[in-house]
Amino acid sequence: MSRAVIVAIDGPAGSGKSTLAKRLAATTGLRFLDTGLLYRAVAARLRATGGSPLDAAAAAAAARTIEPEGLDPDALHGEGIGGDASRVAALPEVRAALLELQRRFARTPPGAVLAGRDIGTVVCPDATLKIFVTASIEERARRRFEELRARGEAPIHERVLLEVAERDRRDRERAVAPLSVAEDAVVIDTSTLDVEQSHAALEAAYAARIGSSANRTS
Ligand code: C5P
Repeated sequence: MSRAVIVAIDGPAGSGKSTLAKRLAATTGLRFLDTGLLYRAVAARLRATGGSPLDAAAAAAAARTIEPEGLDPDALHGEGIGGDASRVAALPEVRAALLELQRRFARTPPGAVLAGRDIGTVVCPDATLKIFVTASIEERARRRFEELRARGEAPIHERVLLEVAERDRRDRERAVAPLSVAEDAVVIDTSTLDVEQSHAALEAAYAARIGSSANRTS
């Protein structure tokens, strides 16, 4: 049996990594996991039960009940959940509870594209291909603003910008598995690229490392 192909796609909030990772999974036939949803699901579960995202024991207990299948991206992208998710994500107990399920998902044949913050550095340091997707903070806040508007919410631009900056700071400065660029990652800056151009850049990185569409996951 051939070894699972693992593509790690990391990057900050609003960089476009999840959209691009999902699309790459579709074109390559690999499975897809947006690992941010795992942390969002922990935050949502705590909210539903009146727990605090700073309560490590409650958050770890919630994390142990999460399954990667069946998470609802739409419900987990409401305002406020991203901030709470980055708080629970800073807890070592939560990260430990979610580590093995991510590795299992990645290693299941034919392999997977995982989007997150620490996939290439911690979850799958032996990934076949590592990509770091980034964009300027202004552009990432603009995308987030449009996303919230499209959901029928009434965001305030300055507030969205502050929230993205605060989440960046929390994700980069935390002690466990902080957001950082793996030294063997291909960096793609999507600030001035549209989705098609960004996808083409990812496809090119995939083809250079793994091969053309002809021998993708075989
Ligand atoms: O990617 P998304 O914005 O949905 O992730 C929500 C939060 O989950 C991030 O701000 C980050 O704190 C956390 N996260 C993480 N590690 C991952 C994926 C997400 O810490 N692999």
